[in-house]
Amino acid sequence: MKNIVILISGRGSNMEAIVRALEAGQIAGARIAAVVANRADAGGLAFAQQHGIATAVLDHKAFASREAFDAALMALIDGHAPDLVVLAGFMRVLTAGFVTHYLGRLINIHPSLLPSFPGLHTHARALQAGVKLHGATVHFVTAELDCGPIIIQAAVPVHDEDDEASLSARVLAQEHRIYPQAISWFVAGRISLRDGRACVANAVAGAEGW
Ligand code: GAR
Repeated sequence: MKNIVILISGRGSNMEAIVRALEAGQIAGARIAAVVANRADAGGLAFAQQHGIATAVLDHKAFASREAFDAALMALIDGHAPDLVVLAGFMRVLTAGFVTHYLGRLINIHPSLLPSFPGLHTHARALQAGVKLHGATVHFVTAELDCGPIIIQAAVPVHDEDDEASLSARVLAQEHRIYPQAISWFVAGRISLRDGRACVANAVAGAEGW
């Protein structure tokens, strides 16, 4: 049984999609060992508790430096012997030490088609740029922000009448589909890194719901 630790900062809808996929048997051989938030008011904590998942809050404001926070976070996560650490709307820049410690078992979801629009306000920036396709990316985390080998992406059309709310809702629906998919591949040992790229064994587009 593989242990997954999920880090959140807020609403936690991606965490919820992952928990629901596990409960539905769509991710075999894994369990959520813990959900950790850096804010006590993270909305997703209540959902995790209602689903019998251990939760913890580590407030970054209680630490003097980014390094001190990340060291405490690592100790907390490692207490759950994680096979995979999942960033699900965890809005903290992580130190190189943290990223190196979990290299190859730390993944993130970002609300854009990377390498376009790394960073914040991705939907507003996509609208401003006038792109016709936007989307979401699940990737391994490396030291560079919103970078690292891409595991799966989903694209959505951008309509002329879209605003930030309508576009982000269309992207979020896809996030909830591709994050559980990526995790099921990871847990099944189907993702390998070749020349800095993530390859998925026996992936057939359209055949697994993506
Ligand atoms: C999601 O859209 C996720 O892609 C984004 O934050 C949102 C969290 O929503 N993450 C980032 O912007 C990371 N750079 P959620 O809390 O409902 O899952």
